[in-house]
Amino acid sequence: MFKTQAIDNSLSKKEQYKTLFDSIKSITQGEPDLIANLSNICALFKHEMNWFWVGFYLVKKEELVLGPFQGTLACTRIQKGKGVCGTAWKELKTQVVPNVDLFEGHIACSSATKSEIVIPIINSNGECLGVIDVDSEYLNTFDVKDQEGLEPIVNYIASLF
Ligand code: SME
Repeated sequence: MFKTQAIDNSLSKKEQYKTLFDSIKSITQGEPDLIANLSNICALFKHEMNWFWVGFYLVKKEELVLGPFQGTLACTRIQKGKGVCGTAWKELKTQVVPNVDLFEGHIACSSATKSEIVIPIINSNGECLGVIDVDSEYLNTFDVKDQEGLEPIVNYIASLF
């Protein structure tokens, strides 16, 4: 069994994401099962970063369908272009939302969510396979540093599909 390093919150976001990336590579190495890997990645994200909600929505036919996640109950299906997740899918672009109340069409799975970041998972053919959604109970949790830390990790996750 592997052991992952606890993330020290006094580290910069850049350092935290580096540690997280190393842990993700180590827990997924040699494991071919996608759901097993995505589930463990969520557990790592949740417990190392202490995020309120983190999970995957996977593209299935013309919808995003809830995949492995950690946190409170969530909506199961999201249409393309709807909410933050559907927008990330449609635009193939990371969405950093400092205040969900200011994002038109935000889907409130939990009223506790105040800010979020959603990164599309895009394969080497440019196809979107799903998104990773991270929600916070606080305003302004995510910024460009989270985007820069998470995008390479999500690029790696795309290679696990
Ligand atoms: N906030 C998302 C919906 C998913 S939940 O927050 C888990 C959105 O607007 O896409």
